[in-house]
Amino acid sequence: MERLKDKVAVITGAGSGIGRAAAELMSAEGARVVVADHHTPSAEETARTIEAAGGRALPVTVDVTDETSVAGMIEAAVGEFGGLHVLCNHVGGTDPRRDLDLLRMDMAEFDRAVALNMRSTLLGARYAVPHMIRAGGGSIINTASVAALVGDVLQTSYGAVKAAVVSITKSIAVQYGPQRVRCNAIAPGAVMTPALENNLPEDVVDSLRRGNALPYLGSPEDIGHTMVFLASDESRYLTGQLLVVDGGMTTQSSAAPGRRAMLPG
Ligand SMILES: NC(=O)c1ccc[n+]([C@@H]2O[C@H](COP(=O)([O-])OP(=O)(O)OC[C@H]3O[C@@H](n4cnc5c(N)ncnc54)[C@H](O)[C@@H]3O)[C@@H](O)[C@H]2O)c1
Repeated sequence: MERLKDKVAVITGAGSGIGRAAAELMSAEGARVVVADHHTPSAEETARTIEAAGGRALPVTVDVTDETSVAGMIEAAVGEFGGLHVLCNHVGGTDPRRDLDLLRMDMAEFDRAVALNMRSTLLGARYAVPHMIRAGGGSIINTASVAALVGDVLQTSYGAVKAAVVSITKSIAVQYGPQRVRCNAIAPGAVMTPALENNLPEDVVDSLRRGNALPYLGSPEDIGHTMVFLASDESRYLTGQLLVVDGGMTTQSSAAPGRRAMLPG
């Protein structure tokens, strides 16, 4: 299928995990993709995989917290492919060892989280929107998290900045909707990226799985497919929304796993 034929997509954090899956899936749907990451070898590897499968990909080294670097990423996309229609502001996260509870959180890590998650989202959109307007419209996809929706015992900064990403999403949707620029966010739940898979103890993975309504955890492709949908014209009436892609994690009552065992039969 060619659901993204004639579209140019920039995906940040595409050297790994969800971003890489999104880049590969968008290419498989006909998009020309800019594989943007601050780890150059990873970006190049994703681009090579895409080209080997017959797609078009441009690896770009970017630091999404740096305005000049983000401007250069967008210019590289337009210079190489002649326009821009899709931007995935995917890079984000915090260091869970420093992003703790209110009294013990590291404020330097909070500032870093603001730059990596919020500022990067604003910057990407600021440089992409004029090109999308020129192209007659576009789709911006911001990666939030279920952490924007529920409280947690740690990662105070992470929840706050991801909630801000949702707010930024709505502002962009309202401000540039008249020019047909759509903006939506995705809130992934637990997704088994290589980083998580290799670092989480088996009992933690089990408890995450039990927390879902579905009996499995997400894969990078599960989020990537949602990004493809948001990038495509199939979602042309959808803007300003947060799509929660979490296997039912935030839907399920905390009592449900225990109560399942009480069911007869
Ligand atoms: N994996 C999950 O379970 C999960 C759940 C909810 C939300 N998310 C969100 O997904 C995003 C991360 O995706 P992932 O899980 O695939 O992570 P990942 O660690 O596999 O990939 C992140 C990529 O971003 C790149 N990167 C890091 N800092 C950068 C910077 N300053 N500039 C440019 N590139 C940079 C890294 O090199 C890496 O390739 C984050 O926004 C995170 O909050 C992930």
